[in-house]
Amino acid sequence: MNMEETLIKIKNEALSLILEASDIPQLEEIKLQFLGRNGKLTIAFKDLTKLPIEKRPEIGKLANEIKIVLEEAIDDRKKLLKESASQKERENLDVTNPGIKPPLGHLHLITQAISEITNIFEKIGITRVRYPEIEWDYYAFTALNFPENHPARDDWETFFTTEETNNKLGQIILTPHTSSGQVREMEKAVKQSQKTGDPISIRMLNIAKCYRRQSDVSHTQMFHQFEGLVVGENISIVHLKGVLDYFVKSYFGEKRESRIRPYHFQFTEPSFEVDVTCGVCLGKGCKLCKAGWLEMGGAGMVHPNVLKYGGIDPKKYTGFAFGWGVERVLMMKEGIEIDDLRLLYSNKLEFLDQF
Ligand code: DAH
Repeated sequence: MNMEETLIKIKNEALSLILEASDIPQLEEIKLQFLGRNGKLTIAFKDLTKLPIEKRPEIGKLANEIKIVLEEAIDDRKKLLKESASQKERENLDVTNPGIKPPLGHLHLITQAISEITNIFEKIGITRVRYPEIEWDYYAFTALNFPENHPARDDWETFFTTEETNNKLGQIILTPHTSSGQVREMEKAVKQSQKTGDPISIRMLNIAKCYRRQSDVSHTQMFHQFEGLVVGENISIVHLKGVLDYFVKSYFGEKRESRIRPYHFQFTEPSFEVDVTCGVCLGKGCKLCKAGWLEMGGAGMVHPNVLKYGGIDPKKYTGFAFGWGVERVLMMKEGIEIDDLRLLYSNKLEFLDQF
């Protein structure tokens, strides 16, 4: 058999094996047998050197063509086998098998609390607004009746930025409390009333991220507050207490009571701290709460100076405000115990999945 015949024979033998191959491993085996390092065609290539020089180009060309034909045949067969395998799989599909459930996430605990709080206030017409998280000192302090350099500012443990200071608005800071939305809301309401001729009316709920330089088991540097502001004619403490009771019953449950205690804030007069009865002993006193009451946050009647900063005449209008922590009210809800508040923002699924 001359070289040409040998090559044709190798080609035919390989092609018939390729066509008969019934799975991919078998095809790989055939590839090795003919095109591998010691494969039949590879050896034939090596034998080319034994041919007389003038014959080599012609036979060499033939060998190359055969190599390409075999490679293509293997690839085609592979494709075909793969297609029929997936077709078979489809035919074997049992549609009565139960499906595989994709893992389902849920809203973060705080997001859930925020939407619950929003819904509660919406029912009495106090609706959500949003104000900047990065704020001028003016709205966070000055316009809330904190004179320049007043020591009370220190209580807010504020983060300051190195941005340029503005003559009227002061430094740019990270909002340390949602009260910063009060004067912004007043400015908006005044404009609105000038446009329509209607009396000024504010029913604001400002829920936002706040930032303070604090971090321990009960404090995170970023946390959330919800701030209520109601301004109108003849608004009194009675309205404040009514809204407070309504919120406490709706959020914590019918059995919980609230009370207000005198306190001091720069931006309210009179000012109060608001307490809610403990969810465990309902006010009797226990290990958790000591005297039966848990402190929820601040509230008060809007200070006349703050109304003035907002462009509202304090002789004509009055208002009340409150500012409470979302994380705090959540912890005060029965049945939720978080030893370290920082876990809320750690993104640990073992923790977050529980809620
Ligand atoms: N902004 C206060 C704080 O972060 C809470 C507060 C107190 C808000 C009294 C009010 C208020 O609206 O009337 O501690």
